[in-house]
Amino acid sequence: MLTLPTGEFPLLLQNNYDILLVAVFAVSISFIVPKLWKRNTNVRGSIPGRLGLPFLGETMAFLSATNSTKGCYDFVKQRRLWYGRWFKTRIFGKTHIFVPSTKGAKMIFTNDFVQFNKGYVKSMGDAVGKKSLLTVPHEGHKRIRRLLADPFSMNSLSQFLKRFDSMLCQRLKKLEESGKSFVVLEFNMKITFDAMCEMLISVTDPALLQQIERDCTAVSDAMLSFPVMVPGTRYYRGIKARRRLMETFGKMIARRRSGKESPDDFLQSMLQRDTYASDEKLDDEEIKDNLLTLIIAGQTTTAAAMMWSVKFLDENKEVQERLREEQLSIMRNKPNDYLVTLEDLNSMSYGLKVVKETLRMSNVLLWFPRVALNDCIIEGFEIKKGWHVNVDATCIHHDPAFYKDPMKFNPSRFEELQKPYSFIPFGSGPRTCLGINMAKVTMLVFLHRLTSGYKWTVDNPDLCLERKSHIPRLRSGCPITLTTLKHGD
Ligand code: HEM
Repeated sequence: MLTLPTGEFPLLLQNNYDILLVAVFAVSISFIVPKLWKRNTNVRGSIPGRLGLPFLGETMAFLSATNSTKGCYDFVKQRRLWYGRWFKTRIFGKTHIFVPSTKGAKMIFTNDFVQFNKGYVKSMGDAVGKKSLLTVPHEGHKRIRRLLADPFSMNSLSQFLKRFDSMLCQRLKKLEESGKSFVVLEFNMKITFDAMCEMLISVTDPALLQQIERDCTAVSDAMLSFPVMVPGTRYYRGIKARRRLMETFGKMIARRRSGKESPDDFLQSMLQRDTYASDEKLDDEEIKDNLLTLIIAGQTTTAAAMMWSVKFLDENKEVQERLREEQLSIMRNKPNDYLVTLEDLNSMSYGLKVVKETLRMSNVLLWFPRVALNDCIIEGFEIKKGWHVNVDATCIHHDPAFYKDPMKFNPSRFEELQKPYSFIPFGSGPRTCLGINMAKVTMLVFLHRLTSGYKWTVDNPDLCLERKSHIPRLRSGCPITLTTLKHGD
């Protein structure tokens, strides 16, 4: 043991005092300088969170949330409670950041394809095809999007609007007359699918519709599966279904080219470009892959959003009444067999707020995945090349800084202008939803017919979410019973 001569002790103390001073100074410098440097370069340092074991990371926790009736976003919520708004995690071997801010969203959306790209997995590319808008590289994407866009503009949708409205009137009437409870989600899935197939490829034959729908569901299920061609797996079923669909679309294209049929629809508008220069038309693979993409991207999203609108309106009767008043005033002075027009939609200002509030609350697409193409800094946090940065639309839509009392269904909040990037249910930038107008038209017409023609009761109050779904949907599908609205109701 080291003993100190008493006479030397003060000196040593003096020396220690100096050493202590130097040490404190050194430690302070080592803490302060990096902080100053970080402040200067606006770098906050590393993002908190647990990466866990190599590859596996927190995959099991993520899968467990996805398989629960709280839904996969519960995984994100839980980590926010532990680590704060910014956190990192590892899922399936990839580092993921959930970007919770409008600043972060802006940076990612405005640099899409340049600093970030859609983080798609092999199974997704195999399922929807290499020429799909969801998978094609930048230049191809720009061209394909430009050529696909016109049929989805508001003006081009008037035919779709008429067909959807008349289909909806008939089906709702039949259900009301039956007096039976029906599952809104199933109803919405079927009607959005049928209406889209009619608009895109003029298919109305029930047997063919059923086959296409079954195959599209199999393809959609395969998009996030393990890509091995083993019979019995989701991937195998999806790839087989894709081949059948490509064949069906191929035969349709051949019949139209031979002049046997030429209906006025989306597919025909693409084929009319056959004689155009190559950058002004889509080749057959591009047409087929994007037909499939449009059906898959449009059906489940719109159907889920419509289901949530029914649920939210049931829970908020004063909103339902206000919406009904607006819709009844639109149908006044119209003949009994009227169909909704684009002008009518323009006068549904409260209806549009209900649509927006439904999309804000329900977050049909919870987050939008991207991969960082280079090391970069988002809001002061260092992001490494290859990390997955997910624009967390749900967090932004539920942020009290943008939406007072965010969990209250209050469409009137949309009387105020939204802050940039605080309302992004359809994304933003070059990948903004192509079906944004179609989705709005569908939802508005649905709300119009439902509230101006009927009242309804929700027959199952269960709030549990469907397991294993990446789109939040009620497990019950929201069963309801309709009754015709009578004068004086
Ligand atoms: C309420 C209904 C809908 C919602 C909430 C929705 C939401 C979105 C969002 C957020 C994106 C961008 C995703 C990202 O940035 O990663 C997107 C993309 C897309 N949506 Fe929709 N969508 C809806 C309906 C539709 C419909 C009806 C169609 C077409 C018929 C459609 C077709 C597409 C396509 C093709 C893309 C890819 C665009 C691209 O990458 O350039 N969507 N949608």
